Amino acid sequence: MEIKVTAGDIAGIDADAILVNHFEGMKSPDGETATVDRALGGAVAQLIKQGEIKGKLNEVTMLHSFGKLPAARVVVVGLGKKSDLSVNKVRGAVAETCRWLRAREISTIATVPQGANINKIGPGDAAQAIAEGALLGTYTFRKHMTKKEDKPGEIKRLSIVGAGRLKARLEKGADKGRIISEATNLARDMVNEPANYMTPTDMAETAARLAREQGLEITILDLEQMKKLGMGGMLGVSRGSRQPPKFMVLNYKGGTAKEPDIALVGKGITFDSGGISIKPSDKLEEMKGDMAGGAAVIAAMVAISQLKPKINVMALIPATENLPDGNALKPGDVLTAMNGKTMEIISTDAEGRLVLADALSYAKKHGAGKMVDAATLTGACRIALGDICTGAFGNNQELIDRIIAAGNEAGELVWQMPMFDEYGEQNKSDVADVKNVGGRLAGAITAAKFLAEFVDDTPWVHLDIAGTSLTDKERGYQIKGATGVPVRTLVNLVVSLAQKPSK
Ligand code: BES
Ligand code: MN
Ligand code: ZN
Repeated sequence: MEIKVTAGDIAGIDADAILVNHFEGMKSPDGETATVDRALGGAVAQLIKQGEIKGKLNEVTMLHSFGKLPAARVVVVGLGKKSDLSVNKVRGAVAETCRWLRAREISTIATVPQGANINKIGPGDAAQAIAEGALLGTYTFRKHMTKKEDKPGEIKRLSIVGAGRLKARLEKGADKGRIISEATNLARDMVNEPANYMTPTDMAETAARLAREQGLEITILDLEQMKKLGMGGMLGVSRGSRQPPKFMVLNYKGGTAKEPDIALVGKGITFDSGGISIKPSDKLEEMKGDMAGGAAVIAAMVAISQLKPKINVMALIPATENLPDGNALKPGDVLTAMNGKTMEIISTDAEGRLVLADALSYAKKHGAGKMVDAATLTGACRIALGDICTGAFGNNQELIDRIIAAGNEAGELVWQMPMFDEYGEQNKSDVADVKNVGGRLAGAITAAKFLAEFVDDTPWVHLDIAGTSLTDKERGYQIKGATGVPVRTLVNLVVSLAQKPSK
């Protein structure tokens, strides 16, 4: 879908459909909706009076213009109560409307800047939300379907139409929305991809291609290089798989410092069978998505390289399969992570924290000023928070607060979890420095406490996305399958750190 901004009046635009809006509780059409209503001889006003258009959030009503306007159809989008409007509601309503129109094979649409100048939503914010709603909400993953009937139509063009004096702001917002949404859809594609099409090698090749396209530096460490660096977690987890592990290092240099201002670390388990501590087979296919953190970090780097914030960002993605063969890691084994700490394996299914141990050590060694990791780390986090919000765990309240704010801006909810010292006790091992399972109680927190062992005092936040990386239903701009969480949170965070560095 092409997104463009047009200066002018929506009533004068020629498209298959033009989008105006109506708010719940209002008795007559307002603003541009009123202009369009006059051209239609009061049809919208009449439908409001009859109660057919209520303005409820995500309500879609289509009228035909029969030559009274250049556009063939007028769509009235319900935006709910005016006082409750937010950018996230605009995203959702635009997404639902676009899917509704796509199902009716409508291919060119034009819209007013939905939500602009209401509840502190600026024209740029509105344009960004519209672009995001449209691009995220019409996402599909059909590449492995061979029948044409299974492929829906496509909205070819969406124009955002506003007054000429707003054009620059609308364009900037729309462009940012497009960059961020395309990156999110890229992460969704990688996560939805079956594990036989997204091995560690495939993931590294994808990252290399994207890095080349964006002019990002990339290094891909192979098994030999991981051995030299002493990445015992990576070596241990990958032992049971025929697929060679890959450790991706990407660098975006927008700042002046020599070192990375921030490292983004993403878990890249391309399939998690549990290893010798094998998982039950129910829903096991979902474990192709155990690289969602890694995919989000790669995608965020693509968006960052297009938005060009003045900051240095290093991205690290430890990628491997977790499978059980005769050479596999076993419960009771002890591994030494890159920072020299020893880890007793209680469960080979707690593999994410083992590879993240090496990645966090690597980030520290390379002088990262801050670290944020994203990982589908624990079923416990999913049980605790569901698919509604991501769990945040960290050692620095300011960074946690900034991530929560970055998530809110994106509509990706983040909830802080406790990190009391007492939880760390559960990870004490009788034979090594730490053990990789701290018992059943507080499983998401003890996993985070394990990671903290490899962080020391660098400001760090761990995002457990086990619940939020996938969704089983269509909801607003979320499509069943991979959500792309937390791409937009990471991008917002990096952009905000570049604009206003923390102390
Ligand atoms: N990848 C899983 C966590 C997960 C579970 C993600 C469900 C998405 C949905 C992780 O590697 C894992 O297996 N964690 C174990 C840890 C346990 C052995 C301490 C878990 O949560 O059961
Ligand atoms: Mn596991
Ligand atoms: Zn896992």
